[in-house]
Amino acid sequence: MSTTAIITSIASYLPEKILTNDDMASMVDTSDEWITSRTGIRQRHVAAADEFASTMGAQAARRVLVRSNTDPKSLDLIIVSTMTPDYLCPSTAALIQHEIGATGVAAVDISAACSGFVYGLTMCKAFIESKMYRNILFISTEKNSAFVDFTDRNTCVLFGDGACACLIQDHGTGLTIRTTTLGASGEGSDLIHIKAGGSRLPASPTSYEEKLHYLKMNGKEVFKQAVRRMEESINVCLKEAKIEAPALRWLIPHQANARIIDALAKRFDIPAERVAITVDKFANTSSSTIPIALEFLQTSGLIAPKDLLLLTAFGGGLTWGSILLEAS
Ligand code: ACO
Repeated sequence: MSTTAIITSIASYLPEKILTNDDMASMVDTSDEWITSRTGIRQRHVAAADEFASTMGAQAARRVLVRSNTDPKSLDLIIVSTMTPDYLCPSTAALIQHEIGATGVAAVDISAACSGFVYGLTMCKAFIESKMYRNILFISTEKNSAFVDFTDRNTCVLFGDGACACLIQDHGTGLTIRTTTLGASGEGSDLIHIKAGGSRLPASPTSYEEKLHYLKMNGKEVFKQAVRRMEESINVCLKEAKIEAPALRWLIPHQANARIIDALAKRFDIPAERVAITVDKFANTSSSTIPIALEFLQTSGLIAPKDLLLLTAFGGGLTWGSILLEAS
């Protein structure tokens, strides 16, 4: 008998501190009007000095384990998606494994920037459907504020911090992972990057002076690529699933910019009331945006049995991907 992978539980963690657009305007030369009209963002959550990718991920993980009444030691694998890990080594997954008491459980990080959730969920599907594992804890966690230059108005207004944890199992009710498609183009690696801190440009006084350990982005080109790549990816996913866009109850795109989301929804004639928007509240939390939006819809009672949900993401790499979920 074939096995299907199901997201049986989901829980987010958002740090307490909120920075509004007016708060940002007191830090750099910007305004609520500029940020709202260009991005749809109104506020973002920012981690405290003693909160990290691992601690936020562990908070979300504890919540999902309590919600699903799961013993952490019963897990088979922990996967963490992050582009803002605590350390280059060890992995954030290993730190979270220890924090939640999942003694002995295998743990690994994956890196696909803002597409990390669709990449990780695809891996979970493969592990479950090959019957290698039965219970996977998959966490997206991002402390973007640690890599954002709060004197650069081009980037600092765009990002927020947050985490979300999902339990993926081979049984139970929830959201079945039906179809997935992934893509990447290393040719565009310069469009979104953090230059220093890796083996090519280790941290040095020069990298610090030139602020090369901060995230830089070619916003205009990223905007164009994001719409194009997510459109192509949605088309592949719909074709593989043999359905058309009107069958979708929800489009849940990566939350980077409301204008990107609007442009995408228009290309598929999907009305605004069927498009998830959380970028106004949480800004761009990289690989955490999609699961946070998913949990937001679920806890708001907006997902019913048999609903089809299409997730689509785009991010640094460049990377992209789409996933069709079906609610049970
Ligand atoms: N406040 C006021 N003015 C600003 C700000 C700000 N916060 N930021 C930039 N500006 C200025 C610029 O300096 C520029 O001024 P100039 O014309 O005098 O040089 C002007 O506004 C216009 O800038 P544009 O680049 O034309 O603004 P645009 O409309 O393209 O919006 C934005 C910029 C919001 C970054 C947009 O391009 C965007 O959202 N891009 C996509 C981002 C994205 O999708 N990221 C996802 C991937 S991220 C990841 O994977 C980590």
